[in-house]
Amino acid sequence: MSTLEIRDLHVSVETKEGPKPILRGVDLTINSGETHAIMGPNGSGKSTLAYSIAGHPKYTITSGTVTLDGKDVLAMTVDERARAGMFLAMQYPVEVPGVSVSNFLRTAKTAIDGEAPALRTWVKDVKGAMENLRMDSSFAERSVNEGFSGGEKKRHEILQMELLKPSIAILDETDSGLDVDALRIVSEGVNRAKANTDVGVLLITHYTRILRYIKPDFVHVFVDGRIAEEGGPELADRLENEGYDRFLTGAATA
Ligand SMILES: Nc1ncnc2c1ncn2[C@@H]1O[C@H](COP(=O)(O)OP(=O)(O)OP(=O)(O)O)[C@@H](O)[C@H]1O
Ligand SMILES: [Mg+2]
Repeated sequence: MSTLEIRDLHVSVETKEGPKPILRGVDLTINSGETHAIMGPNGSGKSTLAYSIAGHPKYTITSGTVTLDGKDVLAMTVDERARAGMFLAMQYPVEVPGVSVSNFLRTAKTAIDGEAPALRTWVKDVKGAMENLRMDSSFAERSVNEGFSGGEKKRHEILQMELLKPSIAILDETDSGLDVDALRIVSEGVNRAKANTDVGVLLITHYTRILRYIKPDFVHVFVDGRIAEEGGPELADRLENEGYDRFLTGAATA
């Protein structure tokens, strides 16, 4: 059982004109086994939240706390956060030329577990996970994300999640750019991870489509750097029908 607690988080990003505040007091608690969806307009700070939790150096935490089972996540290096059980599937996964998928996965697994995985079971696990995600075995020898299509990159993110078995996973728009079959396949991967490891999931998305496969327990509306409203799955449908106007008007006059 793990708990990620975000309290009154304020984050700025470095720009040429100086630091620009993006997150303005985010409060969110994610427990093992829970799925939280975050929806919100472009530029509202959803990826900033994901990167800040993961430890991206571009973002400065100006105040607030992030703890995992009471431990100060913000004091941890990026590696320590991964070893503590945090995982981020990025909106735009980066290419790593010269590092094969199979090497990358084994190195990551070894770093996170503190010991190399037993070769026989590991090879079988990787093969099985790739088959489940309908990834051709040739991907294992390709450089990480290099020349991958958008949808292939997203599958590779979920492949990592299934093999690394995080306790808390943040999935930033893992559904964007997926065809209908890939959306189902990727969603099944997330649901497998939920069933097998009880991972707590923070799912950032613009569409209710993925929420039909991955059932959220909570839906949060993210506007102007903070959570403007919280509810259950019905809130996602309401947002799809009504858009974000009622939140934006409020933000503009606040
Ligand atoms: N270097 C920078 N200079 C100026 N503004 C920046 C910089 N980096 C990020 N921002 C701004 O921070 C805001 C939040 O960006 P973020 O990527 O977190 O939004 P998002 O909610 O994930 O949007 P989307 O739904 O489009 O993915 C945006 O308005 C963005 O332009
Ligand atoms: Mg984003």
